[in-house]
Amino acid sequence: MATFVPATERRTKSPHLPFGDRRDAPFYGMDILSVLQFRREDLDYIFGVAREMRSMVDRIGTFDLLKGKILANLFYEPSTRTSSSFLAAMERLGGSVIPINEVTYSSVAKGESLPDTVRTLQTYADVIVLRHPEVGSAKLAAQYTTKPIINAGDGTGEHPTQALLDLFTIQEELGRVDGLTVTMLGDLKYGRTVHSLSRLLSLFDVRINYVSPEILNMPPELLAELNRQGMAQRELTTLSPVLPETDVLYVTRVQKERFDDLGQYESVKNAYVITPETLEDAKEQMIIMHPFPRVGEISMEVDDDPRAAYFRQMESGLYVRMALLAMVLGKA
Ligand code: CP
Repeated sequence: MATFVPATERRTKSPHLPFGDRRDAPFYGMDILSVLQFRREDLDYIFGVAREMRSMVDRIGTFDLLKGKILANLFYEPSTRTSSSFLAAMERLGGSVIPINEVTYSSVAKGESLPDTVRTLQTYADVIVLRHPEVGSAKLAAQYTTKPIINAGDGTGEHPTQALLDLFTIQEELGRVDGLTVTMLGDLKYGRTVHSLSRLLSLFDVRINYVSPEILNMPPELLAELNRQGMAQRELTTLSPVLPETDVLYVTRVQKERFDDLGQYESVKNAYVITPETLEDAKEQMIIMHPFPRVGEISMEVDDDPRAAYFRQMESGLYVRMALLAMVLGKA
């Protein structure tokens, strides 16, 4: 586990302080690469700013907190939610965006390296959001730019902003995190969202059940890391024994694109499907979450169940990402 460095002592990357920016603002100039950067106090702060963002969007829609700032939204993998919510977040804050989606039409298609691409974008933008298929890519990119890098998913590694919005959703939906039982279901081997969320949950007093086919179990080194944090964890292959005790059911897609052997994918792709019948044994107050996209693991009939929190979860992404952009740019 990375050594925690308090926000106020962390290196700021921006060498020049534009008018109106606050160098003493928590997270000013910082990269957001992993949830291991955060402690509970940081989460309280981020969620407080996210609530303010929600209130501002409700009241006035768009405002000029980041007027004049530019985000480079650099996506080497497909995305709907992360890409469009960062774009919407920047525009709601009055800033503008250089959108580079799937890099098909950028010079990456001609063989340009990640370091050269981010060194180029830092000359145009104030902050870079990066999604890339390789674990560690965001950390690598951060070494080549003085502008903050926000990791929007590095292969099967981490998806820290998703974990922050997931935790924010749990807090807002259930009013607390301590004391909850969280059950993660599906592709726990390749699912970067569950990797980041489980690490973030280790800051709280929670129990986690992992339900997956054996070939998609959580990585053993991550289980060991969480064990050292004192996390109460249990691995299963079926949901029914733990559903009645579950407060948060976090469902994930089996990620076809991560399999070398498509026969193996076919053998597990329909391992779990949540239907209204599945939920008969669940708590009335349980919430169902999913980072999306879904490809059949939650039946659309579940969408009308008040426990289905996944569309509200997506909306939370906007407010949390507005908060993060404002923070790393010294405006919150
Ligand atoms: N949750 C998530 O990362 O979705 P996208 O792949 O659509 O960004």
